[in-house]
Amino acid sequence: AAGFGAHASAANSPLQLFVRAKRKINEIYGEVGDYVSSAHRFLTVTSSGVTSDLAVVSPENKKLVSDHDRKVSSIREVLRRDHMKVVFFGRTSNGKSTAINALLGDRILPMGIGHTTSCFLQIEGTDEKEAYVVTEVQPDQRQSLTSLSQLGNALCEEKLDASAKVRIIWPKDKCPMLAQEVVIIDSPGIDVESDLDDWIDKFCLDSDVFVLVANAESTLMLTEKKFFHKVSERLSNPNIFIIHNRSDAFAGEEMQHEVKAQHSQRAQAFLVQELNVCNRSEAEDRIYFISAKEALQARLQEAKGQPPQISTEDFFTRYLEFQKFEKNFASCLSSTAVKTKFAQHTARGQSIVNSVSQILLDIHHRSQKRQQSQVALRKEIGDRLDSTEKQLEQMTHEMKEKIHQITEDVEYKVGKALSEE
Ligand code: GTP
Ligand code: MG
Repeated sequence: AAGFGAHASAANSPLQLFVRAKRKINEIYGEVGDYVSSAHRFLTVTSSGVTSDLAVVSPENKKLVSDHDRKVSSIREVLRRDHMKVVFFGRTSNGKSTAINALLGDRILPMGIGHTTSCFLQIEGTDEKEAYVVTEVQPDQRQSLTSLSQLGNALCEEKLDASAKVRIIWPKDKCPMLAQEVVIIDSPGIDVESDLDDWIDKFCLDSDVFVLVANAESTLMLTEKKFFHKVSERLSNPNIFIIHNRSDAFAGEEMQHEVKAQHSQRAQAFLVQELNVCNRSEAEDRIYFISAKEALQARLQEAKGQPPQISTEDFFTRYLEFQKFEKNFASCLSSTAVKTKFAQHTARGQSIVNSVSQILLDIHHRSQKRQQSQVALRKEIGDRLDSTEKQLEQMTHEMKEKIHQITEDVEYKVGKALSEE
């Protein structure tokens, strides 16, 4: 049947929208950087050794271009590190860790009955070959993966504080999703901890998507709802997905359609009326019934090139729904991240390019005026000004072309990326 072994290949994953936009904006900023720093160099050279009454380059000009130069460097640094971020929340044992493992296609996070995940676990990709773990208190010290079961597991004595964060650095070549610039955060159950405001400050403000892992066997709980009320008070229009996990418990149940309808309706009312974060039709793409346990098993089998060995009724329907969740969630994640992370930098890049080009044009203009009004003086310093002016003229010409090219490039490519979603 279609679907088995069809583990979305990286090339046509919706995540590519972000991956491509990131590559593009980094390229464009590389060009902007070259342009601004060459303008900066030029201004420095042109103004050095010129007495102030002859200067065509003002100290303000120099300062502004130098500030722009520095600003572009720091934006480039930010852009290089940008990624998409998703956080999973829900009550203990609803299957948050299992759901994340299913998306990653591997048993990376500790899962188990009872209260398992004891602190925040952030999974991110590395180009290196070996996985390792780092804690916030010792960010430079790499720990082996085996320490994860101690650091992140509530059943072990060495466990950290619930709002502590442990980073799991996992080889990208073992996981296509992590290779596509995604960072996933697993959390302890929202019912076992009280300092939820602290969690929001620390883990939610820069997240692109939230996944509420609910339990299909019960219903949305007050603690879960309360938490997301807090989140949506702090963030404008958070993207929230609700997955009703453990739907395999429905298999063979007579009333399963009625139960599902009830859950859907409540989840929809929660998103649309209570939180007011999306409309009715959008909510349809935000609510799912899955079995993370089955999906993980199926993925592990697929990795071995084998069909899943699951005989529960309706398994395939649930697995398809999991894949649908995976796809819609990925496209929401990447389009949101492109907007929030790149749109502002695109505008900023354009305004810097415009500002620098304006300065260069002003300087050019000033040097032309000086040429007309100070013919005598020009004789004395003729050679110097002449060559300066030639340089300016050529520079301005080149800049004009480049600005035009870059501005068009920025508008076209990023505009295209933004509208692709
Ligand atoms: P905490 O870390 O304690 O907050 O729990 P969690 O939400 O991370 O749950 P976890 O993924 O550890 O899963 C809890 C238990 O539920 C494990 O024994 C899983 O195997 C089981 N489980 C997870 N998902 C499913 C599912 O879809 N169906 C069934 N039947 N069991 C599941
Ligand atoms: Mg867990």
